[in-house]
Amino acid sequence: MDYQAVLEEVAAHARPYVRQGRVADYIPALERVSADRFGIAVADIHGEVYGVGDWETPFSVQSISKAFSLALVMSQSHDGHDDIWKRVGREPSGTPFNSLVQLEAEDGIPRNPFINAGALVVTDRLQTLTGDASTSMLHFLREESGNPDLAFDQAVADSEAEHGDRNAALAHFMASFGNLENPVPSVIEHYFWQCSIEMSCRDLAVAGGFLARHGLRADGSRLLEAREAKRINAVMLTCGTYDAAGEFAYRVGLPAKSGVGGGIIAVIPGRCTLCVWSPGLDARGNSVAGAAALDHFTTLTGWSVF
Ligand code: DON
Repeated sequence: MDYQAVLEEVAAHARPYVRQGRVADYIPALERVSADRFGIAVADIHGEVYGVGDWETPFSVQSISKAFSLALVMSQSHDGHDDIWKRVGREPSGTPFNSLVQLEAEDGIPRNPFINAGALVVTDRLQTLTGDASTSMLHFLREESGNPDLAFDQAVADSEAEHGDRNAALAHFMASFGNLENPVPSVIEHYFWQCSIEMSCRDLAVAGGFLARHGLRADGSRLLEAREAKRINAVMLTCGTYDAAGEFAYRVGLPAKSGVGGGIIAVIPGRCTLCVWSPGLDARGNSVAGAAALDHFTTLTGWSVF
């Protein structure tokens, strides 16, 4: 496969979609990013990386961090020896990523780890396991991406904290059901920091390599059991793009995780990990040009999980 040629063609296809949608403004610091950015990268399972456009420009990972925080919790506790799945479900929510409505009827157990409520539970668990959830995330992402310069964006973390009433409400509500182990202020602070980490398409495609290698890192060491990587990919497919997960599976046919910074990572198990970035979002919070690019990638290559 000539990845570089495929990426050029994908970028040309996606170009008319760039600037469509809206740059997220509910976290004011995210609004500063120009809508006309577009980048895409592929990291194959052997460690070769290819990219086009703004693929080396760092952006705010936001909810893409949720796939990595789940992986880190699973890697620290290994399946069967931890209760994370008693505290968070594995079903699509069909509601927006920051919705509160299901929590009351479902005993404070979020539907899945990739909506905000579920990610707060995962961050809470990581805080218990490591004593410093956001710093552990930063170190984990530096190691997996091979980029020691990865950093938090303090302005984004502060901006999100200033406008964080919804996430605070989710956390307090779950705490009222006994589904948080740590104090709410500490859980939401670590969650905001983890979302503020800046990474490029290159960094994210490389960092997500273990999901394409059935749990193995680039150096051959094992981060996750194969069945754990399978499970994360499965939950990405069914829940990784929020209430658009059905539409995304229909169009793209890959496990994926999006963020309101405009990034999306997608996994082709046994082959490669992709990351695309373009800040204009659709009404559900997914990058418009990013989804168009991944749709075209799987159409061109015939590589989807179906
Ligand atoms: O908690 C929030 O609202 C953001 N830090 C992350 C949301 C996000 O990326 C959802 N994505 N579509």
